[in-house]
Amino acid sequence: MIKFLDITKQDKKIHKLIFNDIKRIILKNNFILGEEVFKFEESFARYCNTKYAIGCANGTDALTIALKVLDLPKNSEVIIPAMTYCSTAFAVINAGLKPVLADIEKSSPTISCDEIKKKITKNTRVVMPVHLYGSVAKINDIKKIIKNKKIFLIDDCSQAHGAIYKGKKIGSLGDISCFSLYPGKNLGAYGDAGIITTNNKILYEKIKNFRNLGSDIKFVHTQIGFNSRLDTIQAAILSRKIKFLDSNNKKRQSIAKFYSQNLKNNKIIKLNYSKNCVYHQYVILTKDKNKLVSIMKKNQIPFGFHYPSSINQIDSLKSNFKKMKFPLSEKIANEGISLPIDPNLSKVNLIKIVRVLNSF
Ligand SMILES: Cc1ncc(COP(=O)(O)O)c(C=O)c1O
Repeated sequence: MIKFLDITKQDKKIHKLIFNDIKRIILKNNFILGEEVFKFEESFARYCNTKYAIGCANGTDALTIALKVLDLPKNSEVIIPAMTYCSTAFAVINAGLKPVLADIEKSSPTISCDEIKKKITKNTRVVMPVHLYGSVAKINDIKKIIKNKKIFLIDDCSQAHGAIYKGKKIGSLGDISCFSLYPGKNLGAYGDAGIITTNNKILYEKIKNFRNLGSDIKFVHTQIGFNSRLDTIQAAILSRKIKFLDSNNKKRQSIAKFYSQNLKNNKIIKLNYSKNCVYHQYVILTKDKNKLVSIMKKNQIPFGFHYPSSINQIDSLKSNFKKMKFPLSEKIANEGISLPIDPNLSKVNLIKIVRVLNSF
């Protein structure tokens, strides 16, 4: 049977090591901010080529904390893409700020620079691109747009661990970069987890303090922070798994290449992904979405929707964006289907998927 993502199979070779790590931590009785957390933070910073990395409880908190430590005036505007996971927008609102939506580029899944230019006002304090599906947003162009404007760049890297942009690792491009380490991500824990990277020492100190209830010294609380620490057991698991991130990303890239070269059906539109994209998802568009879904079901090919609603269409957010339209983001919501991109997807199954899609 084809699986959308088989984490158990992917990690089989390191299960024994992970079981031993968990046993060691249980016997040591050091569950909160144990040495494994600091070791993982060091190795993640090294991996991203940044000075600092700070673990936290999940990707949503990573984004919220990044915004909170900037101490921006209430209702400052944060420009985000209209096609992303709900968390990007929720983080902005939960930080007491105002999300301003920008549509994505034509036939590519990341924020449009022309749209950013249109949406900047005197209240804009942050631009927050999302490297959706592992495809890197046009960071250099965005940097040019916000230069000398006192606007921060915080990038949501939750789907792009290991992606490279003009020779630089994702995580090293923004003022602050935020990652989810949710199990299904390119680098995923065995539960909720997240991490934040930065090269700015002042922001690093504030984030490290904020994620631990505003405390560096026990019972001394200098900020009204979050309880959002990366769990010691999850950190140990992530330290084992990070060693396989690049090889798994390479496998994702070769599956994506196969789809790109072999999917030939004029009812299917392929998206353009950035160079060195790490393909967290491989999304195709079709006007006959329901029909293709039923054919995939019949052929036991798993699929996903990322995402079935653009941010302005989410129930709890609709009232914030009344009457606004984001046609390219809404097109992905209406027509997008994510294909299996499990790094261990076999060639036989890959050929089967392409055959079914081409004959639809
Ligand atoms: C683009 C994006 N941002 C934020 C998040 C939130 O991460 P988490 O689920 O770890 O809170 C996710 C993960 O689902 C995501 O894909």
